[in-house]
Amino acid sequence: MTQFAADSGTSLYERMGERTTQPFALRVLDGLGAIANRSVIDIAAGTGGLAVAAAERGAFVTATDVSAAMVKRAAERLLPFQGSRAQIEDFRALTIPDAQFDISISIFGVLAFAAWRQGIAEMARVTRRGGQIALAMWTHGDDCSPAHVMRRAFRNTFPERELWPADLFPLFSENSLTASAREAGLVGVEVQVATAEWCPFSSADVVRECDPMFKGFPGYSALVTHETVAMHKALAEAFQSYADAHGIIRLPTKAFVVHGRKA
Ligand SMILES: C[S@@+](CC[C@H](N)C(=O)[O-])C[C@H]1O[C@@H](n2cnc3c(N)ncnc32)[C@H](O)[C@@H]1O
Repeated sequence: MTQFAADSGTSLYERMGERTTQPFALRVLDGLGAIANRSVIDIAAGTGGLAVAAAERGAFVTATDVSAAMVKRAAERLLPFQGSRAQIEDFRALTIPDAQFDISISIFGVLAFAAWRQGIAEMARVTRRGGQIALAMWTHGDDCSPAHVMRRAFRNTFPERELWPADLFPLFSENSLTASAREAGLVGVEVQVATAEWCPFSSADVVRECDPMFKGFPGYSALVTHETVAMHKALAEAFQSYADAHGIIRLPTKAFVVHGRKA
């Protein structure tokens, strides 16, 4: 059993998923300015990477997620921070009264799902007037994240198949995100494309490292043995095209970062 195969569930997400999302979490927090002593809700918080970073900056954070396992892990990580906690919430219908928070954030959360409009509306509802709202989501351009590198390699290898369901990861542009945020009642909306760099733990072993994460994609998990072999070859080539002179894979990642205020 490899260390990668031994990983599962929340520990896998914390180790691998957050490795792609956390640079953008920090970018989102930087864009909010000083957040000490302010109340923050993190929606679809996963294992709490952003929530912990916000608590470290002195905010009182409520991390929420629909997954009980994610919430359990986020709660454990928030224990050292008085005034911060985690609770189960579905972003489509939060059980939270109106105008409770100074700041609402969701990164790679509500914008990743078909119900994203409901999600933004709920974020606006639980934010006090004048409070800040921030979101992030992959730009979806080819290769904007390791998963998108995977999607390109998958499409090239199996042109007639889809790696993930069509309603996962809705497509956005800077203009459509600005319009949608304004429709949800946000003002002062700014959408930027932020960039970061993703390196695997081991460039030589990148396919084996990513395999457990990519198994979450239905198209990949459905492959039979000889198809998996072809896929791994294509994936290794796709990742290696980002290797520097020392053989280190350095993938430039890209996400929309949205900031606005509740009117
Ligand atoms: C890609 S992860 C993002 C986690 C974290 N925000 C990050 O950037 O690392 C997406 C998260 O959305 C959560 N999620 C999916 N559907 C949800 C829903 N309806 N309500 C709340 N959370 C949801 C999942 O459980 C998962 O933790």
